[in-house]
Amino acid sequence: MRTCDIIKTKRDGGVLTRDEIRFFVNGCATGEIPDYQASALLMAVYLKGMTSRETADLTMAMADSGDKLDLSEIRGARVDKHSTGGVGDKTTLIVAPIVAACGVKVAKMSGRGLGHTGGTTDKLLSIPNLRVDFDKREFEEIVNRYGLCICGSSADLAPADKLLYSLRDVTATVDSVPLIAASIMSKKIAAGSKNLLLDVKVGSGAFMKTQAQARELAREMVEIGALEGLNVTALLTDMESPLGNAVGNSLEVIEAVNTLKGIGPDDLTELCVILSAHMLHLAGKGDLMECGEMARNAIFNGLAFERFVWMANAQSGDSGVLMDTARFRKAKFYRTFKARTDGYVQSIDAERCGTAAALLGAGRLRKEDDIDMAAGLVLEVKPGARVKAGDVVATMYAESESRFDAAEFELASAFAIESKPPEKRRLILDEITNVQ
Ligand code: URA
Repeated sequence: MRTCDIIKTKRDGGVLTRDEIRFFVNGCATGEIPDYQASALLMAVYLKGMTSRETADLTMAMADSGDKLDLSEIRGARVDKHSTGGVGDKTTLIVAPIVAACGVKVAKMSGRGLGHTGGTTDKLLSIPNLRVDFDKREFEEIVNRYGLCICGSSADLAPADKLLYSLRDVTATVDSVPLIAASIMSKKIAAGSKNLLLDVKVGSGAFMKTQAQARELAREMVEIGALEGLNVTALLTDMESPLGNAVGNSLEVIEAVNTLKGIGPDDLTELCVILSAHMLHLAGKGDLMECGEMARNAIFNGLAFERFVWMANAQSGDSGVLMDTARFRKAKFYRTFKARTDGYVQSIDAERCGTAAALLGAGRLRKEDDIDMAAGLVLEVKPGARVKAGDVVATMYAESESRFDAAEFELASAFAIESKPPEKRRLILDEITNVQ
């Protein structure tokens, strides 16, 4: 087989065989296929799509490209979650401790930032000294002892995804149903998930801009899960505006801490309670109402925050910054962004906010780029707020003042201010599940 012929078949809209897909994926994992050919095939898949059969074959080839975790050493009920990626989406940092505090274990593998969206491991790494690289024994030990652990994508598990993920990030090939479905489900299968909640984001800040696309992605993932014997529920959730107020790594950890202490933004708190309730329900803890109540209690009795601190300590992090968030390193400069007219904030385009945060230093432009943990932005208002021209509506943080102009340009297009208040948007748009 020749990689060039596989690229050509897909470029011309053909359907790849299982063997061709395996040849490509294994070549990526071993490094025999160079980045430029891998990128070319990614673009061909992006443009021509894949059949459900090809997507399932791609998923399994990626899951089989490395080791598979057998987490049978982890005792008790266990549940996993994954988001398709959004702006200001720090939910994993909040729901993992909530669910663990309710007695269900969370052994989670997370990714770094992708496109204009942030990644959970990047956020976590803003906690000084924290590690996300664990071998299986350490990972299981932390989960058994503290109820939760969030590790980064490992070189041994689904290694093909590790390469393809970082190439997609810088080749404009992220927002593709087969590539996202295979990326997420290959990691979940390789990581030994049994009960899985998928948060499929929809809207300007998501990779799926319409509900129809998001539903297609959710169905593909739920079906692949069913083929592999996983219990999967997918929730379609709104990502038109950033979730919460903070966008940027340490800024989002600070907001996660506030939410775990019961003083977080309303939209973020509500979504985290719903996600936690579904995770607890998947793990057999009760009906959705009971599970929602348990999740809320875990915030208000302080046990969820305590779990987060335990997890940071167990992962070698300096949990002092969680006890006193003023200790996080601060950006050298800040600049406010002001409303230009009077009126109601109709919408705050999440993709533009994500791009603004990346331009401030919170994201990567090339796969080897370092990110600035303190950079990003904080929204001072949310859609529906009434503002006057000159009111501060966002604050930007960066290490160099030269970054502000480009970010401000994005923010100027992100804010839509009109004379009438907007309609309230629903947070949960749909649910697709393979669980009876
Ligand atoms: N999260 C992933 O792990 N992969 C994607 O492709 C998108 C979001």
